[in-house]
Amino acid sequence: MKTRINTQATLSMRGAGYYSERTAGARDVINNAGPMIQAAIEEIPKDKILRIADFGAADGGTSNQMWDNVISKRRKAGDCRQIEMLYTDLPSNDFSSLFRMMQGMQGNSNFALQKNHDNVFVHGCGTGFHQQLLSNSSLHLGFSATAMHYVSSKPVEIPNHVHAACADINSKTAFAKQAAVDWQNILLARAAELVPGGRFICLNFGIDAEGRYLGNTGGKHMFDHFHKFWRALYEKGSITKSEYEGATFVQYYRTMEEFCAPFSDPNSDVSRAGLVLKSSSTKLTKCPYEAAFHDAGEGMSNREYAESLIPTMRSWSETVFKTALKGRDSSEINKIVDDFYQAYSDEVAADPKGHAMDYVHIILDIEKTAASMSS
Ligand SMILES: C[S@@+](CC[C@H](N)C(=O)[O-])C[C@H]1O[C@@H](n2cnc3c(N)ncnc32)[C@H](O)[C@@H]1O
Repeated sequence: MKTRINTQATLSMRGAGYYSERTAGARDVINNAGPMIQAAIEEIPKDKILRIADFGAADGGTSNQMWDNVISKRRKAGDCRQIEMLYTDLPSNDFSSLFRMMQGMQGNSNFALQKNHDNVFVHGCGTGFHQQLLSNSSLHLGFSATAMHYVSSKPVEIPNHVHAACADINSKTAFAKQAAVDWQNILLARAAELVPGGRFICLNFGIDAEGRYLGNTGGKHMFDHFHKFWRALYEKGSITKSEYEGATFVQYYRTMEEFCAPFSDPNSDVSRAGLVLKSSSTKLTKCPYEAAFHDAGEGMSNREYAESLIPTMRSWSETVFKTALKGRDSSEINKIVDDFYQAYSDEVAADPKGHAMDYVHIILDIEKTAASMSS
């Protein structure tokens, strides 16, 4: 029997601020959600303290402009309440960069919450979001962007691909089951944490009604390219079979139906815990690196485009390939992984047409009602 691989200790975005510096797309997605967050805060009961949690925040650099904006607007509207900001991620996350960002010691200091605002208290939590992270009925607004597609454990290594979205039916089914359990746990944890009337707004990677998902929106398929170049290393003898198969993303892109299932049944555990879905929508965010390339015209070479696009892919994916190589010494790992991304970059530079990383999100606005049927 195959054992489940718990990945919580190893999964992480590249640290030292690399993640947020190279993920303009993720920042755009979060900034676009600002008005929705603002509107939700207006409706949440006005307790003495406003407690907010950003689940799966990485180094905090992709959401700090949005939070800075939201807090500035609250202050301008006369809301001077103390605000507690809890940033959560896995224990392997670079929280040091996050805390430095918030104090304006790293990254874009224009949005440093603790520098710009009085009465904003920043905290960090290094426990995964599949568990309850705050005490009962204490959270006013939960937020999460581009994080909850990570499943809590890898049910199988995918034999002939790197991602569940492209996997054989057995692997896909195993990931779907894990993702359903995880989604229920995420929701029940948030139900326990939220105050009555509190909200949980999440912008999750998913599959839209046209079957599109991250890096697969009509142009060249990003995950097929990851697989192609990883397999080439195996065929060349640079990596072993188990290293080839070990590069399985610990991710599952849920469909709208899968996201909504716990809310459709009034007797589900989630409904009984008092959660209701206020709205759901899908959104495609175009790759900002491709847009910049097109805008630049003659001003940007194909090679320069490749060198802007591949690092954004690398910022979140390299952990998967590095982890598959564990046991080798670090210089060897770095060399193999550098060669892998270089091969992808060379292909983009040779013919950039269709290479991009468009984002596909499923956006959910969830409310904790006063009437919960469980304690
Ligand atoms: C792609 S990054 C998104 C970061 C940021 N929210 C954004 O939108 O730019 C995904 C983040 O989710 C975190 N993550 C993955 N699984 C998690 C879990 N079980 N609990 C908390 N964070 C998790 C990763 O460590 C990573 O920092």
